[in-house]
Amino acid sequence: MTMRKFFYVTDIGDLNAALEEARQVKADRLAWRGLGAGKTIMLVFFNSSLRTRLSSQKAALNLGLSPIVLNIGQDSWKLETGLGVVMDGDKSEHLREAIPVMGCYCDLIGVRSFAGLTDREADYAESVLQQFVQYSGRPVISLESATVHPCQAFADLITIDEHKRRPRPKVVLTWAPHPRALPQAVPNSFAEWMVAAGYEVVVTHPEGYELDPRFTAGARIEYDQMKAFEGADFIYAKNWSCPGISVPEQYGRILSNDGSWTVGARQMAVTDDAFFMHCLPVRRNVIVTDEVIDSPRSLVIPEAANREIAAQVVMKRMLESL
Ligand code: CP
Repeated sequence: MTMRKFFYVTDIGDLNAALEEARQVKADRLAWRGLGAGKTIMLVFFNSSLRTRLSSQKAALNLGLSPIVLNIGQDSWKLETGLGVVMDGDKSEHLREAIPVMGCYCDLIGVRSFAGLTDREADYAESVLQQFVQYSGRPVISLESATVHPCQAFADLITIDEHKRRPRPKVVLTWAPHPRALPQAVPNSFAEWMVAAGYEVVVTHPEGYELDPRFTAGARIEYDQMKAFEGADFIYAKNWSCPGISVPEQYGRILSNDGSWTVGARQMAVTDDAFFMHCLPVRRNVIVTDEVIDSPRSLVIPEAANREIAAQVVMKRMLESL
């Protein structure tokens, strides 16, 4: 299957085939090291990262692909992303020129560009990512953009596939409190991918935090966290700010700081000995208690390890499509 972009679960096609490819890559990550020889991937970061940055570089190196990492505003000029802006502020260059220039120096591009959380329409239009598609002339990977984090969701799917005890596990995505307003990219993609995998998916959060239905269609929404956790096989915790579905003016705001939603032993006790998952970075004893994240049922490190495998499958397919 030709792959020119990686934003949504549909971009990877059949999930069983993708999981089989992930198993092959994991069994012998250097088997395709000739595929990327003489080719370059540009990894563009508008925001901080630990896992995405390292796993993408490692995946590229496994394929013989040379990574160039660009931290916008630190290694480069500050870039203007808005269209029609009078550039008399601190931004020296516009994406409109910077993107095609980056495209001259690479074969693939990965982009991290978080949601601004002030303008829902602009965020959900993925305007930065779409400019990379339009002006780079290269295949583009979202390394977490305004509304999606597909590399994380693919790694999560690989991790669940490796640990599931039944073909259709119960997977619960739970909101948890956080002192800062965070984007919806991780929960959007997680819900989208888990539903696409055919799992029993329950999304639980306080009222007002409903995710965009284009990502949660097929999942059950449950406002009672304890009820949601009953019999679960996997608990996936994440904070997100208000998606602004029912009250658009609340988009990007923190509506609750309810500490009773912090995932602890009390909630895990009603699950079916569930595994605990989080994409990291995580705030201990805010999102999840030490007891849960340090328990043998915590999969946070295997998930992070599988980021390398997920990224390598995506880059491999893009290289095969060139
Ligand atoms: N999970 C994740 O994307 O981690 P980083 O933000 O550190 O890349």
